[in-house]
Amino acid sequence: MSDATKHDHSRIRKAVFPAAGLGTRFLPATKAQPKEMLPLVDKPIIQYVIEEAVASGMQNIIIVTGRGKNAIEDHFDVSYELERILEARGKKELLDQVRSISELIHVSYVRQKEALGLGHAILMTRELVGDEPFAVFLGDDIIESKTACMKQMMEVYDRLHCAVVALEEVPREQISRYGVIEGTEVDRGVNRRVFKIMNMVEKPSLESAPSNLAIIGRYILPPEIFDCLERTRAGAGGEIQLTDGLKELLNQQPIYGYQFEGKRYDAGDKLGFLKATVELALKRDDLGGPFREYLRSLKL
Ligand code: G1P
Repeated sequence: MSDATKHDHSRIRKAVFPAAGLGTRFLPATKAQPKEMLPLVDKPIIQYVIEEAVASGMQNIIIVTGRGKNAIEDHFDVSYELERILEARGKKELLDQVRSISELIHVSYVRQKEALGLGHAILMTRELVGDEPFAVFLGDDIIESKTACMKQMMEVYDRLHCAVVALEEVPREQISRYGVIEGTEVDRGVNRRVFKIMNMVEKPSLESAPSNLAIIGRYILPPEIFDCLERTRAGAGGEIQLTDGLKELLNQQPIYGYQFEGKRYDAGDKLGFLKATVELALKRDDLGGPFREYLRSLKL
């Protein structure tokens, strides 16, 4: 690493993946298995999101885990036994695939002992992140786009040097599932799709939602967020919410929202998971053709 990059604290190098949730929306599948490991076609959900982080230039992955999440660590670790068997059987392609997972990027783990909420999970990474801006990826949101969603957000960050959260317009009747912003579009040439945030509220009622712009699970955060989260008390659902920490941060510095280009699937929801499975399978070179034919034959 050159001295120039070593001291450049405006570069985003670290990506935080909260993965300590109980996965109650996906029971019974998640009773003994982390929801992050449920496969979309043939890859666990979390691998899609980590691949987006790698495509966005992240150098370190920090996964916040909890009880019963060992499968995530095993997935990104070297599997000597499996590699030896594949090698002996001459399964070169599978061997390369398995190896490439552990070679993807450097991963560290930190444990959240109690599921006290997303804001609390992020607070657990304070020591590993240190005094630099970082990215957060929520595994429930799978985003398919030409340019990786986080890469798009980093371009906004490079211009504005402030916290950036991903935004999407969602149907009014679904707004209570999200953190929702009140903001105004910055309508200035290069800053297309960028909103200056005035306020935000976690899981508002339909009547009190300030807009239909929902926060989606991609964030670029400055290290000051940690002090804000230290002061944040339990909010919606009795949990320490990241949105409430961000609201606190808003008292000190500007926060921008960015309406990303791409398609998002809510893989944490059963219907969203099914939609993602079907669409991702249709896009696959090896499966797309026969799968499309099969779907057509269903004559729905
Ligand atoms: C979390 C955040 C929420 C955000 C959502 C995006 O909620 O708390 O602000 O809108 O992710 O997916 P969760 O889905 O964990 O309830």
